[in-house]
Amino acid sequence: MTSSARKLFVTTALPYANGNFHIGHIMEYIQADIWVRYQRMQGHAVNFVGADDTHGAPIMIAAEKAGVTPQEFVANIAAGRKQYLDGFHISFDNWHSTDAPENHELARQIYRDLRDRADGSLIEVRTIEQFFDPEKNMFLPDRYIKGECPKCHAKDQYGDNCEVCGTVYAPTDLINPFSALSGAKPELKNSEHFFFKLSDPRCVEFLEKWTQDGKLQPEVANKIKEWFTVRTNPDGTTSEGLGDWDISRDAPYFGIEIPDAPGKYFYVWLDAPVGYLASLKNWFDKGGPKARHGDTRSFDDYMAAADTEQYHFIGKDIVTFHTLFWPAMLHFSGRKTPDNVFVHGFLTVNNGEKMSKSRGTGLDPLKYLSLGMNAEWLRYYLAAKLSARNEDIDFNAEDFMLRVNSDLIGKYVNIASRCAKFINEKFGGKLSGTLASELPDNIRAAFPAPKATEEVGNRGPINPLLKAALVANEIQALYEAREYGKAIRSVSELLDTCNEYIDIHAPWVLAKQEGAEERLLGVCTVALNVFRIATLCLKPVLPATSKAVETFLNIPELEWKDASTELPAGHQIAAYGHLMKRVTADQLEALFEPPAPATPAPAATETVAAPGGEELAPTIGIDDFTKIDLRIALIVNCEPVEGSTKLLRLTLDVGEGRTRNVFSGIASAYKPEDLVGKHTVMVANLAPRKMKFGISEGMVLAASHGDEKANPGIYVLNPWPGALPGMRVR
Ligand code: MSP
Ligand code: ZN
Repeated sequence: MTSSARKLFVTTALPYANGNFHIGHIMEYIQADIWVRYQRMQGHAVNFVGADDTHGAPIMIAAEKAGVTPQEFVANIAAGRKQYLDGFHISFDNWHSTDAPENHELARQIYRDLRDRADGSLIEVRTIEQFFDPEKNMFLPDRYIKGECPKCHAKDQYGDNCEVCGTVYAPTDLINPFSALSGAKPELKNSEHFFFKLSDPRCVEFLEKWTQDGKLQPEVANKIKEWFTVRTNPDGTTSEGLGDWDISRDAPYFGIEIPDAPGKYFYVWLDAPVGYLASLKNWFDKGGPKARHGDTRSFDDYMAAADTEQYHFIGKDIVTFHTLFWPAMLHFSGRKTPDNVFVHGFLTVNNGEKMSKSRGTGLDPLKYLSLGMNAEWLRYYLAAKLSARNEDIDFNAEDFMLRVNSDLIGKYVNIASRCAKFINEKFGGKLSGTLASELPDNIRAAFPAPKATEEVGNRGPINPLLKAALVANEIQALYEAREYGKAIRSVSELLDTCNEYIDIHAPWVLAKQEGAEERLLGVCTVALNVFRIATLCLKPVLPATSKAVETFLNIPELEWKDASTELPAGHQIAAYGHLMKRVTADQLEALFEPPAPATPAPAATETVAAPGGEELAPTIGIDDFTKIDLRIALIVNCEPVEGSTKLLRLTLDVGEGRTRNVFSGIASAYKPEDLVGKHTVMVANLAPRKMKFGISEGMVLAASHGDEKANPGIYVLNPWPGALPGMRVR
């Protein structure tokens, strides 16, 4: 680590540990990884860390449903991370967890520092009234309380806002509220909550400055301004400017216990960003920075140092947490604040369609890799689309194919494949004995033939080495500013220049001409020098290909300072191996093909009949069948679903001492009143599914023909008399 090297602490947002990575996460990691690799190529000392965001009610509840402890649940998710990160060449130095001891300690210490400030505490305890589930014995987060909208009277709305009319309210405003966890009627109970006094003038003054001093992206800073202004909302209510932040939750909660407050836990968003520090501390305690950069300091010294720069890459949905809460937590606990927060928009797939797994419109990162698709195609494609602005970008399959095949392969890889073979076959792999820059003008440059039709007049000589030096110089600022799209365009122009240079000299013609050896060698030497600089320019985006190029050119790892040098005279290169394949239409088709429906078992001798208009599903074992828990259910209530012609809303009793809400697509066949009081069979262990109209907690069994159009009719199953709610069907 030289003294001029910058010390950069870089993070991406910490993903919730309730599911695998999706393509949006991968996009964020690629954006950050390109920046980090660029900085490393500049010789700067980067510590790039991530972690799983493990705490909170949703993860606790998901773990309970899965029948495991929250710790086991998040460990399981963590175990799946590596294949994505390695697969897409994301070069985190460390990956940790917000449930790790470092995070417990740091979060508690930051809290104590806020609480014990000499100039007056920024923590306040207040008693608030909150809904409590008497069956589950827990306070209910807003998301787990449902009831009738006080305004439009839509049923089954969440505790924070109505999905039908859009009204925002408190859970206590709901009519006939019930717990989405147990179905029980919640009780109002007092509870002491801890607040971070963001409305304190000290905080307001600090945050207004911090967010408006010009470091943030202008569109981000503008949006944040609204948070400070006292104003009247469209619905007549007034916003007070910065409000205090409720940072505590009551047990049971998967989180970090608040010091001196047994049974109280930090709200997940309090300890989540602290996880950035925890992961970095873990990295320091393991000796990472010492081994990597010779940085022997402690974590505390590193964080306190004036020249340590701290940057967070995040998506547009979590700006408030990172530009208000987080800097305030750090500053008022006596710590340094981030140097900047880089906000990106959302990635959509194929024309902005919302990502959906079931409809197959999403882009599953693991499927992408398993199809043999090159991670660097995606890195290149996303880089070409990314800018420093907080705006959404779209993954478009056709556009992807074009950019990869025409630009990456057709312009970049093409240069090496066209020129390396002559050097290897005709000159024993040895470049010209004269430095490329010292070759005669008529070899170093190319002169486009004057065209009679050209109106603008004849063009001057094409000088690819000169252009390479210019581009390598100008794109540094573009990488630094996260203007990757512009950087890629600039490299693309360089590649155009180089290809035109090659076309004019036509080495494949020279190779057949007698006496043209020197020119052939010179032209290929120039082209490979340009290729080397282009590789350097693309290295943050294409780390694996760059490595292959370094091997093939027989050179040390390219760093930015190499941009001003060239391949030595008479340099020996290695054999050229193919650098990258083209993407095929088949691959893209397979990528977006919806998950295959169960295919029928292969026919033994004759064609399998299709009883009921549908071939039999493949054979399963008894173990497969017992995974499905079928139960007798009593239809306690049934009503139409407003806004849906297909669905009925069933209230089912499965003998659990609570009822379940199930949506069923049987409205065309039954009147609600015909079903009430009847028994039926339901899949009782199907994971709850959030639908447009509410959560469906299971599935009712019904028969229908495979060709519904030709043979309409839906027949709900009905057991023989005597079957009771809760009995298992086997
Ligand atoms: N756990 C919080 C972050 C805590 S940071 C201290 C969280 N997790 S998340 O898994 O929901 O999102 C992680 C990151 O992925 C966020 O920056 C989010 O904006 C980003 N993205 C989620 N969906 C995305 C897209 N479709 N496109 C791009 N980024 C997206 O929020
Ligand atoms: Zn409503």
